[in-house]
Amino acid sequence: MREILISEILNKSKEYILAHPEIKLSSYQKKKLSKMETLIKKGFPLAYVLSYKWFYGYKIQVNKNVLIPRPETETLVDLAISWSSLNKPKTIIDIGTGSGAIIVSLKRNIKTKTQFYASDISKKALAVAKQNAKGLNIHFKHGNLCSPFSKILKKNPDKVLITANLPYLYPKQLLEKSIQKEPRLALIGGKKGFEKIEQLLKQISKLKLTNSLILLEINYDQAKKLSSVIHKLIPQAKTTIHKDLSLWDRIVEIRIR
Ligand SMILES: C[S@@+](CC[C@H](N)C(=O)[O-])C[C@H]1O[C@@H](n2cnc3c(N)ncnc32)[C@H](O)[C@@H]1O
Repeated sequence: MREILISEILNKSKEYILAHPEIKLSSYQKKKLSKMETLIKKGFPLAYVLSYKWFYGYKIQVNKNVLIPRPETETLVDLAISWSSLNKPKTIIDIGTGSGAIIVSLKRNIKTKTQFYASDISKKALAVAKQNAKGLNIHFKHGNLCSPFSKILKKNPDKVLITANLPYLYPKQLLEKSIQKEPRLALIGGKKGFEKIEQLLKQISKLKLTNSLILLEINYDQAKKLSSVIHKLIPQAKTTIHKDLSLWDRIVEIRIR
């Protein structure tokens, strides 16, 4: 851990630091290192201490107001990019965008004539997402789930891609030490765990989407229950469950013809 922090302070690779044990830090650098080590001891995740996390090959700025993007979510981005390359969506919307990791990765990889949107209920999270999306043409909206986009989607219901990594943990999972410092709003999906996802599906079922795809990240044990919710709410949709790299059920894909 020390090598990572020193490499950050000196802007050198970890390998360089390991190969040069003779390096001396200035008193300013020593102070900085000691502050960082104190935060780590207090249980702050490395990404918060460094203020960034690599996601899909991009350096994403993070702070305590956003969830630290997880590698599992890269599976969702892969699926979104491959569907987009074949289907050329007119509109892409990322719900619960947090740091903006998903929408920024999509915008950087999808070169079709597409409008890019993202939303979050947390204004503080949106501020971070906007920072990460600087120079990219992404429109951010504040509000509950799909509501900020109801007008846009009523007007343009064809070829829409919706991505959402909403909170999906159960309250008891909050006891896990690794997530103690992340925002509750980004983690807990109500008693059932998938209440926000269900609410989003209800909103989507009222839209008249055609030739569209919805990609939702879920908890490892929610696929069966959510599939039956989807079957009830959007009976015309075709649902597929994708596993993450650790082989847990992780992404629900909903195709609407
Ligand atoms: C699990 S985090 C995911 C963040 C980001 N999409 C990612 O994959 O790293 C969930 C995000 O959903 C947001 N959120 C929670 N409830 C919401 C709601 N009702 N409407 C919109 N966003 C919501 C949280 O503020 C948080 O930023």
